Amino acid sequence: MKVFLYCLIPILLFYCSSHADQPSKRTESKTDNVVNAEEVLSSLAKRAISDISKIEFDSTKIPRTVEGGKLKGTPSKSWTSGFYPGLLWQLYDFTNEAALKNAAIKWSMVVEKEKMDNGTHDLGFKIYCPFGNAYKITKEEKYKEVFLSAASTLSTRYNQNVAAIRSWDFNKDVWQYPVIIDNMMNLEMLFEATKLTGDSSFHYIANQHASTTLKNHFRKDNSSYHVVDYNPNTGEVNNKHTHQGFNHESAWSRGQAWGLYGFTVAYRYTNDKKYLQQARKIADFIFTNENLPSDMVPYWDYNAPNIPDEPRDVSAAAITASGLYELATHDTSSADKYHNWANKILQSLSSKKYKCSTPPFFLQHSVGSVPGEFEVDAPIIYADYYYVEALLRQSKI
Ligand code: GLY
Repeated sequence: MKVFLYCLIPILLFYCSSHADQPSKRTESKTDNVVNAEEVLSSLAKRAISDISKIEFDSTKIPRTVEGGKLKGTPSKSWTSGFYPGLLWQLYDFTNEAALKNAAIKWSMVVEKEKMDNGTHDLGFKIYCPFGNAYKITKEEKYKEVFLSAASTLSTRYNQNVAAIRSWDFNKDVWQYPVIIDNMMNLEMLFEATKLTGDSSFHYIANQHASTTLKNHFRKDNSSYHVVDYNPNTGEVNNKHTHQGFNHESAWSRGQAWGLYGFTVAYRYTNDKKYLQQARKIADFIFTNENLPSDMVPYWDYNAPNIPDEPRDVSAAAITASGLYELATHDTSSADKYHNWANKILQSLSSKKYKCSTPPFFLQHSVGSVPGEFEVDAPIIYADYYYVEALLRQSKI
């Protein structure tokens, strides 16, 4: 018997390790090791405090990624500019540490001027991540005014013929009126603006945008296109493309995560069951996908051609986990399932494999854009932002 066991154990160990990174069919079995979110958050907050003094404060270099082993920052105009201050606000909320608040204020103020930029749809990311958090935490009116102003600016990009907000202004020779799935993430600021001011126009625009996206962005299998281009005069769909995915018919991983999170938020503010239904369907698409690895950190595209030899996208996993914790609050009959999936993601992201030690980043192995050939398999600040948000949500369950 002993001899039999001595032979069997190495075989089993080999089998488990050789299959750890392989795509596999999902089951709904319980996660055995749920991370202790409070412990992880405490250690991340300590890291963040120590990193504040290690990185230079430069208003043109807001932490975004690591390139050549060094921190790479971007100006406030970049779509990622709000994540580092937003992350500091979230960690301040958890710890009440003055050092985090001071740094959060300093980096937020660098981004404030972007509230007037009507040349982008990314105002939710840039402005609501820092100032939405700042207002929720401190209740100081001055922070609310910043994102209300950004909500007014974002509203100017709405076109009634299309019934959606225009996403991008570039590639005018290819797209007339591009709307991307990411844009679902900028709606929370609009919904919140109506709640705080009573001006229903923000809610109307956000709801119209969500409804149009629901109608045109999804395929039969509930994966979404990245870009849907419209005729701005008639609202007709010109074409359905990708920009950051593998090809026009593939499922770009972060796009699926934006959709899951975005439709969950749209349901929170509208109570419209069709949005909840779509969020559920996206979750099922992700977690029944045969190309999702067993640690539930997806490859950068569910249809990437060389799976399993493709980069993972940790950011997609972090956004998905955070979205799932909220989805579980709305779809309580499936809450256990969503918690198990999200817990598994947090467990994976909190393991050694995904840790980043370059200040101020917590996680490595994200993907900015494979077709664009930037930030492929890199630490990226928005992965950290949604990782911390997901941990905070888990800690409150
Ligand atoms: N919103 C841009 C991206 O997800 O890369």
